[in-house]
Amino acid sequence: MFVDCKSYANEILAKAKGRPGALAIIQVGDDPRSDVYVRGKERDCEKVGIDCNVFKLPRNADIFEIEGLIDQLNSDREYTGIIVQLPLPTYMPEDHICQRIALSKDVDGFNPQSDFHPCTPEGIVWLLKQLHGSLDGAEAVIVGRGKLVGAPLQKMLLDQNATVTACHSHTRNLKEHTKWADIVILATGKHMFDQSYFRTSLGRQTVIDAGITFDETGRLCGDLITEQIDHSNMNVTPVPGGVGLLTRAVLVAHTGGVNLI
Ligand code: GUN
Repeated sequence: MFVDCKSYANEILAKAKGRPGALAIIQVGDDPRSDVYVRGKERDCEKVGIDCNVFKLPRNADIFEIEGLIDQLNSDREYTGIIVQLPLPTYMPEDHICQRIALSKDVDGFNPQSDFHPCTPEGIVWLLKQLHGSLDGAEAVIVGRGKLVGAPLQKMLLDQNATVTACHSHTRNLKEHTKWADIVILATGKHMFDQSYFRTSLGRQTVIDAGITFDETGRLCGDLITEQIDHSNMNVTPVPGGVGLLTRAVLVAHTGGVNLI
């Protein structure tokens, strides 16, 4: 069964409705995929009455110009949230630029010192709590240890008293881990997980697909090969229309001063 992430994202957005706040999005260049993401963020802000302004800089903008804009937004009391839309042009140091955002306005939560958790793992933990009630003692396997999803999620699930196994590209017998777990979070960016990674009996599994990639036909997809999954024994988040919607909703919640966990 697919999890209805749209309804859950609306539930998160409702928490931010009517809260004061404004989001500044800095976008460098005109990557068409970033345009789509930015429009989604603007729409979500509009739904709950949070202001959203996009500051577009040309692809050849100089780093000092971006830093100057961040400094100005950091001291502008109107803005409660600032994000730099990624990816930046390849020659720009993303971490260095993102870390210039004031910790109290870093609503993406990219800086480990930020006042906010990173949005994707926060949305995943919140969703898992809705689906499972408590995560105390749950067996969770995370596949992927990237700095935006896999790595922060390890600690955040431990903080919920889940038993966490961190798997990655060097893990031997990955299927033995993924078949055993109550909860599997896929964050590899590889469209490779078919039914052979999951069990067909011994209770339902929840599979959170945090991968974003493209299949051989150029279609947006996640880590799961959903056509090859037996949905009768699993709760699965779709891609598109899954974790991405939760991430956006958490961003808006942060901008309204709301933390979900
Ligand atoms: N590009 C793709 N996803 C994201 C995101 O969540 N935040 C930012 N800043 N850039 C992105």
